[in-house]
Amino acid sequence: MSRLIVVSNRVPDPRRPAAGGLATALTAALQARGGIWMGWSGECCDDDTEPQLRQRQAGAVTYAVTDLSARDHAEYYQGFANSVLWPLCHYRLGLTDYARKDAAGYWRVNRLFAGHLLPLLRKDDVLWVHDYHLLPLAAELRLHGVTNPIGFFMHIPWPAPDVFLSVPGSDALLSAMTGYDLLGFQTENDTANFAQCLARSRIARPMPGDPGRLATRQRSFRAGTFPISIDTAGFARTAEQAVRNPAMRRLQETLRGQRLILGVDRLDYSKGIPQRIEGYRRFLLDRPAFQGQVTYLQITPKSRAGVEQYEALQREIAEQAGHLAGELGRLDWAPMRYVNRSFGQSVLAGTCRMARAALVTPLRDGMNLVAKEYVAAQDPADPGVLILSRFAGAAQELDEGALLVNPYDVEAIAGALGQAMDMAPEERRERHGAMLRVLQDHTVFDWCDSFLSALSAPGAAQAAAG
Ligand code: G6P
Repeated sequence: MSRLIVVSNRVPDPRRPAAGGLATALTAALQARGGIWMGWSGECCDDDTEPQLRQRQAGAVTYAVTDLSARDHAEYYQGFANSVLWPLCHYRLGLTDYARKDAAGYWRVNRLFAGHLLPLLRKDDVLWVHDYHLLPLAAELRLHGVTNPIGFFMHIPWPAPDVFLSVPGSDALLSAMTGYDLLGFQTENDTANFAQCLARSRIARPMPGDPGRLATRQRSFRAGTFPISIDTAGFARTAEQAVRNPAMRRLQETLRGQRLILGVDRLDYSKGIPQRIEGYRRFLLDRPAFQGQVTYLQITPKSRAGVEQYEALQREIAEQAGHLAGELGRLDWAPMRYVNRSFGQSVLAGTCRMARAALVTPLRDGMNLVAKEYVAAQDPADPGVLILSRFAGAAQELDEGALLVNPYDVEAIAGALGQAMDMAPEERRERHGAMLRVLQDHTVFDWCDSFLSALSAPGAAQAAAG
């Protein structure tokens, strides 16, 4: 089997246990085939230092990472990737902050990554590039004569053409993406939006009679839907074992019989956290009997420090959580615990298992793996209820069992919380069973296999016919 070369902005540290399902699945695929995982080290260096690639071997896998100069970090990562593409792809045009120098930095870092990769590549390697940081990477490699199969997976939503095409330089980005052989998206809607962007900009068109194949004048490639998933059995096992974790026992004790309502999200404006807190507040006001009977735990590790929109959101949520505590808190009861730090898998899985309801209400999300992890973590005999945004990719698969809400509708969130708290055990079991079956039938390992087999299938890329 040919070697696998994975490229992503962040690269897991092989000295630490894999932090999530994605890293676990990609590591397993890399170990099975042998290969390289290349990306940013997470560190910055001076603008005058030329960043070198550092390689570390772990079994059959070489982890190859480079620092970014302070300027590259500001322009590529904080700038174009996280102040233009991220808000744009989450339908937040008003939050984009475009600057030509950031766009130039974005392309420069993609060239830098290509330059680091070139000497490492062998003739029959298969490459798999991840996420919005690296849209033009294949094109940069093709410029240097790389003909290997190159796949790309977009972890975040691909927006409607009117939104995507408003970014200056969108045509150049889209043209560069035609250098991939297979482009994977989370939902049918994302895939269709991408194909429409190409058609509207007259860069590539669908080929009649060959679903999923698109063609430019020079070459054809495929775009398809590959919803990402989790290590369902592994997460369920971790959750079951987590009850023995002392931190879980302490949490249980401090709840003193109250029902736990859980939210777990990076601190990000796409997650709908302010609307969710307001929804919870309305629930407590509409159903005062639940005051003193429930606790809402919102775990929100800080993210992308230094990007202005994130700093503003952090202040907003802290203020809102403070108001809620002041307004409805009692001498012996706090309505909400708001925690700005990250936890290991065991604590997260255990907390999911303990929670009677999870609020997963992003305003827009590529997939949202917390929704899937919450389902996997439940005790099937007494499961909790998933309240899920209809704008999370996960809603496409979990619609039979979750309570779907419009995350902008705080009254709908309040209503869903009431419904979740009132729900009889039989209905909870039925809904949970429907969702669990979906996750057992489609794990992150299946996701990885199906993408890689599609990429290696004969004719993944071919010269366009005429
Ligand atoms: C999202 C993106 C990932 C990114 C992660 C954390 O899930 O799809 O590519 O790594 O957020 O964000 P950060 O900027 O800290 O890497």
